[in-house]
Amino acid sequence: MAKMWAGRFQKDTDAVVNDFNSSVMFDCRMYAEDLEGSAAHAAMLGRQGIIPQGDVEKILAGLAQIRKEIEAGEIHFSPELYEDIHMANEQLLTERIGDAGKRLHTARSRNDQVALDMRLYVRKEIGEIKSLVLQFMKTLCKKASDNLETVMPGYTHLQRAQPITFAHHLMAYANMLKRDVRRLDNCREGLDECPLGCGALAGTTYPIDRAYTAKELGFSGPNDNSLDGVSDRDYCIELCAALSILMMHLSRLSEEVIAWCSWEFKFIELDDAYSTGSSIMPQKKNPDVCELVRGKTGRVYGTLMTLLTFMKGIPLAYNKDMQEDKEATFEAIDTAKACLKVIDPMFDTLTVLTENMKNAAKRGFINATDCADYLTKKGVPFRDAYKMTGMLVHTCIETGNTLDTLPLEEYQKVSPVFGKDIYQAIDLITCVKERRSVGGPAPEEVARQIQKIQDFLEGQGC
Ligand code: ARG
Repeated sequence: MAKMWAGRFQKDTDAVVNDFNSSVMFDCRMYAEDLEGSAAHAAMLGRQGIIPQGDVEKILAGLAQIRKEIEAGEIHFSPELYEDIHMANEQLLTERIGDAGKRLHTARSRNDQVALDMRLYVRKEIGEIKSLVLQFMKTLCKKASDNLETVMPGYTHLQRAQPITFAHHLMAYANMLKRDVRRLDNCREGLDECPLGCGALAGTTYPIDRAYTAKELGFSGPNDNSLDGVSDRDYCIELCAALSILMMHLSRLSEEVIAWCSWEFKFIELDDAYSTGSSIMPQKKNPDVCELVRGKTGRVYGTLMTLLTFMKGIPLAYNKDMQEDKEATFEAIDTAKACLKVIDPMFDTLTVLTENMKNAAKRGFINATDCADYLTKKGVPFRDAYKMTGMLVHTCIETGNTLDTLPLEEYQKVSPVFGKDIYQAIDLITCVKERRSVGGPAPEEVARQIQKIQDFLEGQGC
């Protein structure tokens, strides 16, 4: 089929080049945004007297008709027929309404058109991703509320360190996700200027009204420099960066779930609906979902590298390299959404094995800090108390004891300050309940943390 730009050319495009150059196979997902942008542009052209009002009406009806046809699956976006979604929609329009369709592209270029479509598309997707993150935060709050007193070992270096609760652990992730939401909001804010009207790169001689189209399309206003409007894809980079960080969080959590499901930990049990089996080992129940979330994180990081790399050496203004923004950004969006959609119900349905968590907390001397603190509270300087407790741990290891089973005489050999109340002081429940400092694991403190996230969720309309 003859190209829209065939006038200047003596030959048809080589078929290999045609396939290589076309983006319609993947940018057709922005069809609605492209139609919406065209409708606002056409309305503006009419208001400004740049094209006749009669043509505007035909264009608007034509665009609505195309939308219906696309949504009914009647349009096949093949690269043999169309180069990209922008040319496809314009061509479809002209086929349907004739000359009026040919007026649509007055005072516009594909460069400001694609810059607009991409912003509209990314803006919509940010909204969807954000609600999935908020939903997952809600699930974490629910699970945390049910586990305020579920004692588990807290780790550093994957060594048992100090006692915490499952609720405390989960709320750490809820707070990370809250910052992910802020990063998504920042991206949304960063793309809030409308590039329509920047033209190819240097604006236009027509008396366009950029403020009108910006408002119609829900932007705070037109962007301030036409070269910038068509040249930057920083909002895609910001989104891929935000999604990379989000995925990093989901991946860490997935890694923990994988460990928690193992026989070595057995802190939780995944619902059968969210686990998979083995083709050979009949006993297996695998956390494939988590492994995939962890694995797919690499893909999202990859999209960030793709964008940063192809953008870093291109001069102003538009260059075709920038067409590469689509697949990378779409991949980041699709992957993050798919992961959020599966991790949330998987989490919601998992069973917490409280006894196993508690038993693990009993081993590994995770109340050693509390033992040192016991002495400190009785006037022993912390460094001395720390050393004495170390000696006690050593004795426990030698004698096969835990701090809870070590006889009082042994304690008193190390320091006469020890009394019978040491056993109460190093009791796991006491250790957790006493950690009432802001941000700590004490149940009432974690309840405060949950409430704060719930207030945040409510403020977000959840
Ligand atoms: N499909 C192109 C893209 O995604 C649209 C812009 C084309 N502009 C141009 N001057 N060739 O970037």
